[in-house]
Amino acid sequence: MTKSKDTIYSEYRERVADFIFDEKVASVFDDMIRRSVPGYATVIAMTKVFAEHYAQADSVCYDLGCSLGASTLAMRKGIDKPGCKIIAVDNSPAMVKQCSEVIAADDSIVPVEVRLCDIQDVPIENASVVVMNFTLQFLSPDRRDAMIQKIYDGFRPGGVLLLSEKIAFADSDKQMFETDMYHEFKKLMGYSDTEVAQKRKALEKVLLPETLDAHRMRLKNAGFAKTYLWFQCFNFMSLAAFKE
Ligand SMILES: C[S@@+](CC[C@H](N)C(=O)[O-])C[C@H]1O[C@@H](n2cnc3c(N)ncnc32)[C@H](O)[C@@H]1O
Repeated sequence: MTKSKDTIYSEYRERVADFIFDEKVASVFDDMIRRSVPGYATVIAMTKVFAEHYAQADSVCYDLGCSLGASTLAMRKGIDKPGCKIIAVDNSPAMVKQCSEVIAADDSIVPVEVRLCDIQDVPIENASVVVMNFTLQFLSPDRRDAMIQKIYDGFRPGGVLLLSEKIAFADSDKQMFETDMYHEFKKLMGYSDTEVAQKRKALEKVLLPETLDAHRMRLKNAGFAKTYLWFQCFNFMSLAAFKE
């Protein structure tokens, strides 16, 4: 996996364009996400554990929005049941190219298929584990119900969805506190005020966070019987949602 340092927003610009997952981002993505998402390493490490516990024999595990394949690799290391395969999906050609190289260099035996396509176009079938680490937030909000419903419908009994997202807060004081602390975290990780401000601007129309309640309600409406918040750090969280 590439280890280049993310300096994409270090120079001041008059105009900041909307964020896209292009070649430039893919080449520094590992550093970018580790320094931008508090608890990212924990979420990835636990993705392996979730796969260990919940992947079922002869089923399919999905990594939706796989980027460079960190969650795919974690699942691949965790799966110990026979007959499983992983389908990793991303609609960024640069991400898929690098992800395929990362997977090819890994020697675990679970088969992985890396697909260049929109997660909304991937049929979800015979699934025991579906991982969506920090991807639903990039889908237009009016498409999210259908996406979650499709995942629910494609699960086998006992299936688990790992849904990790940046979240918003209904209470404005809390929103301000969590955002301030999150920006302090980014500075602790070595980003300058300019980098924090410009990245925020680049993402503001692209990454649309919802509240924890909105996520829980959507999962419930889709049919998920249980939803547990297993991780939260400031405005980032992860939910485990169970079909039954
Ligand atoms: C924040 S990254 C995900 C990080 C990754 N899951 C991990 O754990 O390292 C979001 C990814 O989702 C992809 N993405 C966003 N919208 C998508 C869509 N509609 N279909 C497929 N991939 C999408 C982006 O290209 C990007 O690689």
